Amino acid sequence: MSAVLSLKGATIRFGGLVAVNDVTFDIEKGDLFGLIGPNGAGKTTCFNLITGVYRPTSGEIFFNEKLINGLAPNRICAMGIARTFQNIRLFQALTVLENVVIGGFLRHKASLASALAYLPPAITETSRLEREAMDLLEVLDLADVAQTRSADLPYGKQRRLEIARAMATQPELLLLDEPAAGMNPNEKEDLAQTVRLIRDQFGKTILLIEHDMKFVMGICEKIVVLDHGEEIAYGPPSAIRNDPKVIEAYLGEAV
Ligand SMILES: Nc1ncnc2c1ncn2[C@@H]1O[C@H](COP(=O)(O)OP(=O)(O)OP(=O)(O)O)[C@@H](O)[C@H]1O
Ligand SMILES: [Mg+2]
Repeated sequence: MSAVLSLKGATIRFGGLVAVNDVTFDIEKGDLFGLIGPNGAGKTTCFNLITGVYRPTSGEIFFNEKLINGLAPNRICAMGIARTFQNIRLFQALTVLENVVIGGFLRHKASLASALAYLPPAITETSRLEREAMDLLEVLDLADVAQTRSADLPYGKQRRLEIARAMATQPELLLLDEPAAGMNPNEKEDLAQTVRLIRDQFGKTILLIEHDMKFVMGICEKIVVLDHGEEIAYGPPSAIRNDPKVIEAYLGEAV
């Protein structure tokens, strides 16, 4: 089976620092795949390479066998890759529903500017997008706060809203950057169930970065571990947990 996403020797340098160094892995359709490693390991930079924020210094990135190195982020999004951000990036002044509707607009012809202004020709699309957005808010358990300003949401719900907005672009591949950060244990457990549901019922392929080992080991079937930009391990959670290189990289953190 051909991979949905393929990194082949992906490398990026920032001056003297090699932030991602010769990283190679394949993600198959339907994978729930983890990308872990200590702070500064290069995880978010991998997402930035995959989503076109940065162009690799060398190496190749394929999405469904198409080379996407250095394509503009909006083109990569339109091809079917969506992401959430480690530092939440919502339209704070807009409602929860409006944030998701805007995600929906990004895959339609109407521009972001007209989406924001609710101007024609966007207007005719809006009601359908609102219905679709409400469906997503149900899935993410945010329907009851649809009319709340996103800035007024508690942190855990803002993270869920980022996922709803990414889902609204109807991606094939969903990249989640520390989706459980700042959540309490109950919120994390709920999120784990939601992520599984997004994969199982919506058929999405998911790549997620996360520091919470219980969360990652509990839901990911395959894991790549980075340290100082380099891939130090790959395998199922059972192997990663006991890998001496991984334990050393985390220097005694519970893995
Ligand atoms: N635009 C940039 N310019 C210079 N250095 C950068 C840039 N982006 C990232 N880096 C550096 O690359 C390295 C990897 O950063 P990255 O954000 O990918 O780490 P991370 O694994 O996501 O860490 P964390 O778990 O703390 O989020 C760090 O040393 C970081 O300072
Ligand atoms: Mg990061």
